[in-house]
Amino acid sequence: MYSCYFDILISMEQTFIMIKPNAVEKGLVGEILKRIESKGLKVVEQRMSTLSKEKASELYAVHKERPFYNDLVEYITSGPVVLMKVEGNSAVKAMRSIMGATDPLEAASGTIRGDYGLDITKNLVHGSDSAENAQKELNLFF
Ligand code: RTP
Ligand code: MG
Repeated sequence: MYSCYFDILISMEQTFIMIKPNAVEKGLVGEILKRIESKGLKVVEQRMSTLSKEKASELYAVHKERPFYNDLVEYITSGPVVLMKVEGNSAVKAMRSIMGATDPLEAASGTIRGDYGLDITKNLVHGSDSAENAQKELNLFF
């Protein structure tokens, strides 16, 4: 019984989620929030913001040399986004699973990207890819 309790404690995580400009524009904030909460995760902080070029380049610094970088920064600063701190058991992995693959054309039906997108840049939602990066990204915004 105690080891089970310990397992729950150590898998409790936080992750950084951002609802991207095209999802806000399409009125999908409520639907995405519903999916996060239905999964059993908790949104513990949330606010709307329009990212500056500086903030966007900090968030996406790891992609600076990639060919899609300029389009990505241009897009992510093009309108308001919703920034969230999401918490729960294995939150990083759980969020990546309900988001689906990076390219909405490859993402499975039933995932956010699979159900609502067609464009790899405008792929609706960002989620941290590791607990370590989650803390870095959360520190940028909260
Ligand atoms: P994210 O960081 O937004 O949660 O997405 P991800 O981990 O699934 O994908 P990542 O490789 O980190 O890419 C970051 C974002 O860059 C855009 N992207 N465009 N045109 C392209 O080939 C391309 N590849 C990636 C996407 O918006 C992706 O979410
Ligand atoms: Mg990523």
